[in-house]
Amino acid sequence: MEAREVTDASRVKNKAFLSKIMSAEQAAELVPNGAVVGFSGFVGSGCPLLVPPKLAERAKKLHAEGKEFKISIYSGASTDAQAEGVLAEAEAISFRTPFFTDKNMRALVNSGRAGYMDVHLSSLAGQVEAGFFGKMDWAIIEVTGITEDGRLIPSTSVGNNPLWLKLADKIILEVNNFQPPELEGIHDIALLGLAPNRKPLAITKVSDRIGSPYMDVDPNKVVAVVLTESGDRVNKFADIDEVSRAIGDHVVEFLKQEEATGRLPKGKLLPLQSGIGNVANAVLDGLKRAGYKGLECYTEVIQDGLLELIKDGVVDMASTATISLSPDAVEEFRKHVAFYSKHIILRPQEYSNNPEVIRRIGVIGMNGMLEADIYGNVNSTHVMGTAMMNGIGGSGDFARNGYVSIFLSGSVAKNGAISSIVPFASHIDHTEHDTMVVVTEYGFADLRGKCPRERAKAMIAIAHPDYRPLLQDYFDRACAQAKPGQTPHILSEALSWHDRFVKTGSMKP
Ligand code: COA
Repeated sequence: MEAREVTDASRVKNKAFLSKIMSAEQAAELVPNGAVVGFSGFVGSGCPLLVPPKLAERAKKLHAEGKEFKISIYSGASTDAQAEGVLAEAEAISFRTPFFTDKNMRALVNSGRAGYMDVHLSSLAGQVEAGFFGKMDWAIIEVTGITEDGRLIPSTSVGNNPLWLKLADKIILEVNNFQPPELEGIHDIALLGLAPNRKPLAITKVSDRIGSPYMDVDPNKVVAVVLTESGDRVNKFADIDEVSRAIGDHVVEFLKQEEATGRLPKGKLLPLQSGIGNVANAVLDGLKRAGYKGLECYTEVIQDGLLELIKDGVVDMASTATISLSPDAVEEFRKHVAFYSKHIILRPQEYSNNPEVIRRIGVIGMNGMLEADIYGNVNSTHVMGTAMMNGIGGSGDFARNGYVSIFLSGSVAKNGAISSIVPFASHIDHTEHDTMVVVTEYGFADLRGKCPRERAKAMIAIAHPDYRPLLQDYFDRACAQAKPGQTPHILSEALSWHDRFVKTGSMKP
């Protein structure tokens, strides 16, 4: 559903905010060149969708007059094509953090025309609050309503909104009438604060609530309220193909092995985290096929697949920072929102991705990757070591701290021209120290308790058959050197597969 401006102000129940209602165009006029702006939005949901296009229009006009207009955007995670996408297209972004998936944003970043900092999603708020990034001037935040006593009912994502509202000098609110009023009460909002005043988090199980359903805001800082109707419009996932189905089956095979050996509670597992992307979505389907019921998720995103698991009782309770759904799933969610709100808690990402909680409650992290090397170093972000794909997102929060950390990928990309298992990862987001299990359609490599040489054997066994002999040859020759060391490599060849792909379009010799 396209975002549109409306006049119905019935969700603005506090008088102090009524006088601030204005058009998106008027609100956009207020934001100056060079502003540092905190956006709402996390994996495409809960984003402001009216003011950003007006900012982009303004930028284009000013650029045509030879004037500068660029802003910095800090968000929860990725926003929408109508949020950062239009601004990137208008060359109106100078700096972006901590995650994006938009193609215009990717082009801007990879051409070097905008700065991008890739930060763990759990860490950004604390770093911004501590002043590591300088000052935050503005916040543009979508909410679903303003209560009589002036508190804000959050939307379908929380992300970093509570902190942006606290830090920004000036705030624009987009009040979205389309989001179901039943969202009130689903959120669990608190601020972590800074050391030395941080307290232990009293989340001992997924369903624990420790905050309030509302976000606080100083009404004097709110300079504009824009009324909107807009549904989240996240893209539908690719249909589950043979490869991702096999990956899902191997994940289940691994989980069953862990249950059988007593390393995971039988039938209940431990709280699951499932990352973004087609493959992670397909793994959720594997859990359903395996007949699990009553599982729990401590995760950062509920995508279509997870919503379906909640519907079917496979998952009973999910803690998340966002509900990020394609239009069909939005329809399902809206129809049964009363049901879903009993099974979902929406928290700020400092909480949904909190390393201490993840480690203590024993989350099973499952994230997609671009490539892993034979020793288990994982690249989630940089195509051929240089071009940014999406960002590290929350994968590091869960991989470093999870009870078990699983990475998932098809064994090849681009019709076989790229092997996902390589001699040496061309960029490393997750080191061999954090990677425990890697899964492709050929099986799972269990790297736990293994030295590098044993890890290499396990990794080569799950590579695509076309690349297995090439990996084996590299490994054998690396081990046969005069001084092979702890982690054998032939330095002059370690990145030769990537180099060959860049030069010839294939990693194959
Ligand atoms: N080199 C180059 N491109 C590769 C690649 C590689 N080794 N492996 C995959 N790709 C490409 C695919 O060809 C595909 O490209 P296309 O969109 O042009 O078709 C794209 O990457 C996505 O690959 P796919 O196999 O469909 O995987 P996915 O949708 O599961 O996404 C990641 C994989 C790594 C991009 C995704 O998981 C990600 O962004 N991860 C980092 C963030 C994260 O893990 N967050 C978790 C918490 S939200």
